[in-house]
Amino acid sequence: MSQSARLISAKILEQVLLQRGSLSTQIGKQIGEVDYDEQGLTKELCFGVCRYYPQLNSIALSLLSKPFEEKDFDLYAALLMGLYQVDHMSTPDHAAVHESVELCRQLDKEWATKLMNAVLRRYQRERDEILENLAQQPSVEFNMPKWLVKRFKKHWPESFEQIVEATNTHPPMCIRVNESRVSRETYQSMLLEQDTVSRETAFSASGLYLESAVPVFMLPNFDQGDVSVQDESAQLAASLLAPQAGERILDACAAPGGKTGHLLEKQPNIELTAVELEPWRLTRIESNLERLGVSAELICGDASQPAQWWNKQAFDKILLDAPCSATGVIRRNPDIKINRKPDDIDDLVEIQAAILDATWQTLKQGGYMLYATCSLMPEENEQQMAAFLNRQGDASECPLNQLAPDQTLAFGKPVSHGVQVFPTVDGQDGFYYCLLQKH
Ligand SMILES: C[S@@+](CC[C@H](N)C(=O)[O-])C[C@H]1O[C@@H](n2cnc3c(N)ncnc32)[C@H](O)[C@@H]1O
Repeated sequence: MSQSARLISAKILEQVLLQRGSLSTQIGKQIGEVDYDEQGLTKELCFGVCRYYPQLNSIALSLLSKPFEEKDFDLYAALLMGLYQVDHMSTPDHAAVHESVELCRQLDKEWATKLMNAVLRRYQRERDEILENLAQQPSVEFNMPKWLVKRFKKHWPESFEQIVEATNTHPPMCIRVNESRVSRETYQSMLLEQDTVSRETAFSASGLYLESAVPVFMLPNFDQGDVSVQDESAQLAASLLAPQAGERILDACAAPGGKTGHLLEKQPNIELTAVELEPWRLTRIESNLERLGVSAELICGDASQPAQWWNKQAFDKILLDAPCSATGVIRRNPDIKINRKPDDIDDLVEIQAAILDATWQTLKQGGYMLYATCSLMPEENEQQMAAFLNRQGDASECPLNQLAPDQTLAFGKPVSHGVQVFPTVDGQDGFYYCLLQKH
């Protein structure tokens, strides 16, 4: 029997609050329990609560005499959902309260019905005053965790407002047209024939932004590989690496294979090795490549341990799209606002350095490595590159478009090493690129 959207949303959010996996993983696991018609509402509630979590959490804590214990995080999720419906959905006030109270019963926590009713009704009565009292808190003013506000302000004072605005908005849907099958212009007309309006990406030659998001099965010839969903910033990787026929290329952290597929669309006659640590994510590369009708050598392994998977034949080029804080794509993964912690950045910097040093050994002399992250943290980006260039005497930085002179670099801000891309409201995600050559 299918479950209600609100019940499953509370269960998904409970797992996210308990740090038992990402929002997308939890949605993937549980959304099947909801009728198809209700899945949109489930996603709206889950993404919405995560997107507004810093604000909703501050409001909730100000309304409760003591925070919920972990064993009742399902109720806490229900309360956050109630507040989200009051503030950000068109749910009538009385319905938001009624549904939240009913949810306590569905969660077998009848004892909490009075509390839920009282807290939400008080918020409805005193909303303006409560918000005014909280307005100075960074989590409420910027709808971001305090530590992130501090770091963004410190690192990017001039772009701070843009980062906050773009991070808090719903991201546009961006697709990459497979130009080995169809031109961007033709595909745009195919979309228009079914009343899907799109505009061309400014910096990627193959991208289109859709005026409003559609499920992938509504994209013409999606199953035949005419098109993939990929942000504009991410589309630049394959262009900047400019694969040439006959080259041996390593895609060092490859899943779900968005860039793997793009490299092969651009140049099918390459020997591409894609390495990925997580076995279940490797299967996603497999299905993506199958859909595009291309193939690569897929290896489940640790990129920082080439002894596990490298056959000692040096690569001409390496794409290292490193695991990172994903602070440039919070709008697509809003649970980062809940679960990412400042210490994570230090851990990630270490992992990135280990993968950089190890994969560098597999690059031939004269070969190129494109280092990429979807992070806005200089520690993971320009500072990571500075430290790397210091450690590796045979590495030097090249102009980012050395391999693709026609590619404009106007999409980003040149920093001490590489180019930092900031997210924009209607456009690209936050990203970072740096091109290195081995001597
Ligand atoms: C930023 S994502 C890559 C996105 C991918 N390049 C794309 O365009 O679809 C980073 C990936 O690196 C993987 N990863 C993390 N640590 C790794 C390691 N030590 N070796 C190989 N892959 C790793 C993660 O599981 C994740 O799939």
